[in-house]
Amino acid sequence: MPKMWAGRTEGITEKIADVFNSSIHVDRRMYRQDIEGSAAHAAMLGEAGIIDAASAEKIIEGLRSIRADLDSGALTVDPNAEDIHMFVEQILTDRIGDAGKKLHTARSRNDQVALDARLCLRQECDAILEKLRMLALTITDKAEMYKDAVMPGYTHLQRAQPVTFGHHLLAYAMMLDRDKGRIEDCRRRMNLSPIGACALAGTTYPVLREMEAEKLGFDGICLNSMDAVSDRDFCVELASCISILMMHLSRFSEELVLWSSWEFRFIELADSYTTGSSIMPQKKNPDMAELVRGKTGRVYGNLMQLLTMLKGLPLAYNKDMQEDKESIFDSCDTVKACLDIMAGMVGSMTACTENMKRAAQAGFINATDLADYLVRKGMPFRSAYKICGEIVNTCMRGGWVLETLPLEKYKEFSELFTEDLYASIDIETCVKKRTSTGGPGEESIQEQIAYIRSLFCV
Ligand code: ARG
Repeated sequence: MPKMWAGRTEGITEKIADVFNSSIHVDRRMYRQDIEGSAAHAAMLGEAGIIDAASAEKIIEGLRSIRADLDSGALTVDPNAEDIHMFVEQILTDRIGDAGKKLHTARSRNDQVALDARLCLRQECDAILEKLRMLALTITDKAEMYKDAVMPGYTHLQRAQPVTFGHHLLAYAMMLDRDKGRIEDCRRRMNLSPIGACALAGTTYPVLREMEAEKLGFDGICLNSMDAVSDRDFCVELASCISILMMHLSRFSEELVLWSSWEFRFIELADSYTTGSSIMPQKKNPDMAELVRGKTGRVYGNLMQLLTMLKGLPLAYNKDMQEDKESIFDSCDTVKACLDIMAGMVGSMTACTENMKRAAQAGFINATDLADYLVRKGMPFRSAYKICGEIVNTCMRGGWVLETLPLEKYKEFSELFTEDLYASIDIETCVKKRTSTGGPGEESIQEQIAYIRSLFCV
């Protein structure tokens, strides 16, 4: 059968060209947006007197029936169609006859596809934000549960200073706060209507662009018709926000993998979020966390694909741009799945607080506090730092930790040491004393929890 666009050519193409050209397997997921956009367009055409009111009515009615039938499964998308726009228009014409042929007045597939993509991704932003919210709240609940659980904080993956598990978890909630802000910004910039730009140069019909935009819930319209149909920066921007978010989830996952290992034994993941090995009976593998980490790679790949696809394109529309949807949809689907799985995994994990504490006691992570003790007694920090380093050395050679090194040994390094040193290097005290804003101390943790909840609780 000749194509709907037959005219200049006979519209007969090779089968392999059809298959190669078709985007229906990807853009079929935008059928609701396509129909919504077309209904708004028909309404605008009718109100502006560009088509007669009766035709507009018929189109809207026809579109409504198509939507209902696609939703219910009474109508299925033809996998051989060129794209979702052609498919919907074809069915519409089949159903309502000549009136259906009036829908594409003052419109091109170029502004139509840009419109559908914006409508669709706007909704994806909302869905991602909702899942992000759930994860942030789950993390915060866990943090509250373990706000006093002392653990070693690390730098260079070497035990550094004592923190609490709650404080460590809240660091990720703060990252999610910024991810939220980025996606909201992206959504705001995306939320302008391109429809009315037509192929690239606007139209001679008296279209009512603002009215159409308003019907579709946009904040305004794209002011340059060529920009409206040419750019896909909204896809790139969202892909980039998702990449950053995935980077955060990936780091978190890496820690979950480490913490659940026998080497750390800081957490126990719920059985329901782990898998066994097909050969080693003792294994309990953190596959979900590993997959989140692994899927981050494909999300970065999608971002790179979009940037590269666009970088050499002259204005305005080029068919290359059809390649935008597969990757941005994949990024959206991936991040949503990862947010869900992270919320489930974090929500159901338990902390092995005794192991955390033991690790905190074994790595000289209170050495800074020992130096601070000398500083409080009047010694300059640099001198105290050097002495404490030497004390750590002595402990390591003699099999002591700072808590067990006898006072007379301390005295060999400085006369400033007295019995009260032991209280000030007690791991629990070390955390409690870190009362600076943003630190792991009690008040700061409460402030962080309240902050995250105020952002995400509705
Ligand atoms: N399927 C196309 C896409 O996704 C729709 C736009 C086609 N426009 C055109 N001039 N061929 O980009």
